[in-house]
Amino acid sequence: MTDPVPLETLADEILLSIRRRPGRAQSVSALSRRFKVSAQDFTEALGIITAWGYRLLLVKEEVTFLEAPDLLTATEIGYKLKTKTIGQTIHAYHSVKSTNDIAAQLAASGAPEGTIVTAEIQTKGRGRLSRTWHSPPHAGIYVSIILRPPFPAERAPGMSIMTALALADTIESYCPDRTRIKWPNDILISGRKVAGILTELTAEGRRIEYVIIGVGVNVNHRTDDFPPELSSIATSVRRVTRRKQSRVELLRKFLVRLEKEYTRYQKRGLSTSRTRMRWYLSLIGNRVKLAHGRRIIEGVALDIGADGSLILETEQGTISVSSGEVTVVKD
Ligand code: BTN
Repeated sequence: MTDPVPLETLADEILLSIRRRPGRAQSVSALSRRFKVSAQDFTEALGIITAWGYRLLLVKEEVTFLEAPDLLTATEIGYKLKTKTIGQTIHAYHSVKSTNDIAAQLAASGAPEGTIVTAEIQTKGRGRLSRTWHSPPHAGIYVSIILRPPFPAERAPGMSIMTALALADTIESYCPDRTRIKWPNDILISGRKVAGILTELTAEGRRIEYVIIGVGVNVNHRTDDFPPELSSIATSVRRVTRRKQSRVELLRKFLVRLEKEYTRYQKRGLSTSRTRMRWYLSLIGNRVKLAHGRRIIEGVALDIGADGSLILETEQGTISVSSGEVTVVKD
């Protein structure tokens, strides 16, 4: 005798089947026959699907799939995700301190390339330069991606830029002509920060063991969701488009674009992406101050190098820098 299928597994299978025909009434008795379960088990499984947040309509022995919840669950993120590696293994949490920390633990214990970690809430979300990343529940996307690139560690800084490009392209599709990259990897809409990237590298000598790319996107934040110190410098996709957006859809779009950028980066570095990068960069032609460690460098931002570095014209001559915090100097 075979063991009975747990109701959750049955619910999963039923969900996959009924969501193929959204908006169409499907016969409960025909479906329970197809799944070889009693009408009672079938109805209980529908109850589980509803408890997961899916909207179903159950009328006169017929069930209609109406809507999936905008929750960052493995099922939702993975549903019709058209990637080969990135996002093919998903660890989706409700609440964590930082998805980057969980991803680092998973990577250290051998998680495969492309594994992603997401959370609905981060209680200690980390930003660059030891800042915190404000991560309110169900409003943003908090995701960390494990990559194991075959190239040497000196090429790692360009990975933040390739991620910024994938993220900018994704956000640009919601907010055309207003999306910019603040070098190296802040994404701005109309001058306000909408997304950030925290890349963390673990290497042995020149050999990269793994890179964790942590991405935070303000998607459905309302004005009140930002603490006062951020409300004038940060924004969200919802604030700009004046529409609540599907975080799951935005995340899927980003993962697909990131995989493309990553493939391109492995083959050709950033050489073929420079034109796009220049288009997104808000700095070119401006006088800027760059905090690089304890040094402050002042100059005019001339261009972006093939390795993603910022090329500055300073009083000491033309230099290129690979990281730092840039501010535009206003005359
Ligand atoms: C920055 O702009 O300073 C970078 C912000 C990066 C935030 C993301 S959210 C997911 C991942 N987990 C973290 O703790 N940080 C990154």
